[in-house]
Amino acid sequence: MANPTLLANWFPNHTAKAPSLRNAPGFYRNLEEALDIRRAERSVFMVRSNEPAPGSIDFSTLDFLHLTASGLIREAFLQELAENPNFELGAGGSRLLNGNNAYTENAEATIAEFHGAESALLFHSGFEANTAIMAAIPRPGDAIVFDALCHASMHEGMLASKALCKQSFRHNDVEDFREVLLGVLSTEPLIKEGKRSVLICLESMYSMDGDVAPLRELVDVAKELFPDGNAQFLVDEAHTTGVLGRQGRGFVNELGLENEIAIRMHTYGKALATTGAVVVSNRTIREVLINNARCFIYSTAPSFPMVAAITAGYKLMKSGQIQPLQDNIQHLVKHFFETITDNPVWDEANEEGILSIPLAEDWESRPFLTQVVPVMTRQRYTLWLCYHMQLAGICAFPIDYPVVPKGQGRLRVVFHATNTKEEVERLAEKICEWAQEMLDIEASGKGSGKIPTAARRVQAQQAAAEANGNGV
Ligand SMILES: Cc1ncc(COP(=O)(O)O)c(C=O)c1O
Repeated sequence: MANPTLLANWFPNHTAKAPSLRNAPGFYRNLEEALDIRRAERSVFMVRSNEPAPGSIDFSTLDFLHLTASGLIREAFLQELAENPNFELGAGGSRLLNGNNAYTENAEATIAEFHGAESALLFHSGFEANTAIMAAIPRPGDAIVFDALCHASMHEGMLASKALCKQSFRHNDVEDFREVLLGVLSTEPLIKEGKRSVLICLESMYSMDGDVAPLRELVDVAKELFPDGNAQFLVDEAHTTGVLGRQGRGFVNELGLENEIAIRMHTYGKALATTGAVVVSNRTIREVLINNARCFIYSTAPSFPMVAAITAGYKLMKSGQIQPLQDNIQHLVKHFFETITDNPVWDEANEEGILSIPLAEDWESRPFLTQVVPVMTRQRYTLWLCYHMQLAGICAFPIDYPVVPKGQGRLRVVFHATNTKEEVERLAEKICEWAQEMLDIEASGKGSGKIPTAARRVQAQQAAAEANGNGV
């Protein structure tokens, strides 16, 4: 369970470093000056040991199915190694030279078949796969149209893309999407004539908001405006692989839209508990990637352990062992929404703006729920809510700028297949307990002068660390 010292360590008060480097080489001083700007606005990232504190409940990791925590993926991986006792660890070159082998090709064939596609191409990570697609697929004169909240890796790829026309549409807004596509048609005559194309880029589930793309509606609009088929979709399934769809095939499968989506990008670092990613598509897309994606051409091929772990993940999915885990996530999230909205504090905390959970509204009308649920409060309270949860043995972290826009910080709660109903009830109870404390503080009229118990304990520790010269 987290304690105030650990939290003070995770969320230290940052002090400026550049002023103390007056005699250091200018190169480093200049870099520290740039970091000081981030330190001042408390948006500097730190790599720290922040796996769930021992004894605390995991409502944070992206091990959605708990394949890591339960050891299921390790067992399947060891089995895969046992079945291939003579494996060679390293690939020995890029895929275009010595790095290709029958094991990797078989894995890709299995993946393509599982996802009902013509072909699959493995990448070292989802970040790399997205940058490869964005940089390699659009040609000069093509356009990229993307959801305003799409992942940093897509933006990275766009920087290298040959498409000059890159337009975002408002997040999940079908009408704005239509307007943007109409704009592209009116400004790009070659696209209108069908001689150039549009790549439309989305995520299946947005991991900071937990909402899903209105994919069917977006597909309908694109088909209506581009009857020639020169507008096609890339759907990033990073957060839905293993979690949605039959046996974990993903969101596009859940909606039965496999034939409408040109490119699906599945990552393996989250629900499937390993590393790497795949692009699932027809053979044309695969061949373009092989020919144009520089990170594919100029990089050593995936090693055997990576491909073996991915293969193990597919064996688990095909065995049917994943389906009950997926179902359990659905039950748990539903139970959370029911429990928290039934809590006597909920209505008042909601009305007073102390708590809001956008996904808890009209959840009954959604055909399936997602495992990521952001909990919003007043911006200056987000960290206080996190402290309260952590000290109560619930591991959930705040997400803030620059990962989400300024002013939209939230506590991100992530549900896992092996969380229990009791754990979910404790989560709801502890959030509401904190909300009650905040309501009491606000009602006492002491406003910003008074801080809740958990925050007070952590701040005392932060102050002590600073006094001892251990500020960061
Ligand atoms: C939506 C999305 N796409 C791509 C990635 C990158 O995938 P990977 O972790 O495999 O690099 C992430 C995060 O990791 C993500 O959240």
